[in-house]
Amino acid sequence: MTHSNDPQTAPLQGKVALITGGTSGIGRAAAITLAQAGASVVIGARREAEGAALVEEIEAADSRAIFLKTDVTHAAEVSALVQAAVSEFGGLDIAFNNAGIEGAGLLPLVDESEENMRNVMEVNFFGVWNSMKAEVPAMVERGGGVIINTSSVAGLKGFGMFSSYVASKFAVEGLSRSIAQEVAGAGIRVNTIAPGPIATALLDRATGSDHSMFTQHVPMQRAGTTDEVAGLVRFLASDEAAYVTGHALRVDGGMMS
Ligand SMILES: NC(=O)c1ccc[n+]([C@@H]2O[C@H](COP(=O)([O-])OP(=O)(O)OC[C@H]3O[C@@H](n4cnc5c(N)ncnc54)[C@H](OP(=O)(O)O)[C@@H]3O)[C@@H](O)[C@H]2O)c1
Repeated sequence: MTHSNDPQTAPLQGKVALITGGTSGIGRAAAITLAQAGASVVIGARREAEGAALVEEIEAADSRAIFLKTDVTHAAEVSALVQAAVSEFGGLDIAFNNAGIEGAGLLPLVDESEENMRNVMEVNFFGVWNSMKAEVPAMVERGGGVIINTSSVAGLKGFGMFSSYVASKFAVEGLSRSIAQEVAGAGIRVNTIAPGPIATALLDRATGSDHSMFTQHVPMQRAGTTDEVAGLVRFLASDEAAYVTGHALRVDGGMMS
């Protein structure tokens, strides 16, 4: 589907959106959805072939996109991604800080390695922190903006055997709500999305492809789709959410109800 100039179908016309972790799953779907809504998109992740294929797909639908090989644990690479938004498209309006990993999977505390705990915190927490540090000045320069960080239902409630991931997502929640208060006066909104189980490669890896491990706790009795999450990202990025900040928006089939 190509985008139009209609404010109903293209509410992000003229906006520039940055997405981390755009090469698969939720980030990939969000990049396509934001482009369809009219935004020029700047995609960062580590896998270059997947990034190039996504840019091709978005451009084939008459939208604008660039990909930059980016590891969110390296602050300089994240800064370069933000600079690319400014130099290629004139500024930064929307940032979807979504890159994340599940780590070593389900483990009791005593079997958890320090290496795994640090790795999960490095990507899931410091990746978001690095991103916001680079994005906020660019948005202040622009006169405002919207930041959406990917948390999880595991950022709102403990899950035994998954403590490194849970800790990293609680950290994202605390960071997001604090920065939301700091930057509201600069016209920048900061929210998180908190997905329940969503059918992606990450969920396959975390469950050994047996999604029922998690979906049995979901009243809707299924995993969500990446498009169902991307729709929420689009809403939060738009002016329809103009008075929504410091919020964690669950998309979880009722799991946390
Ligand atoms: N699926 C779920 O059930 C679920 C539920 C709640 C929350 N989430 C969260 O949703 C987000 C997206 O996950 P997903 O389910 O869509 O998984 P996914 O398909 O595995 O996608 C993860 C993305 O993050 C990128 N990434 C990983 N490490 C990175 C790094 N160091 N630097 C830059 N990019 C990196 C990956 O790209 P490269 O490999 O190319 O770098 C990929 O594009 C994550 O934050 C995850 O914690 C997922």
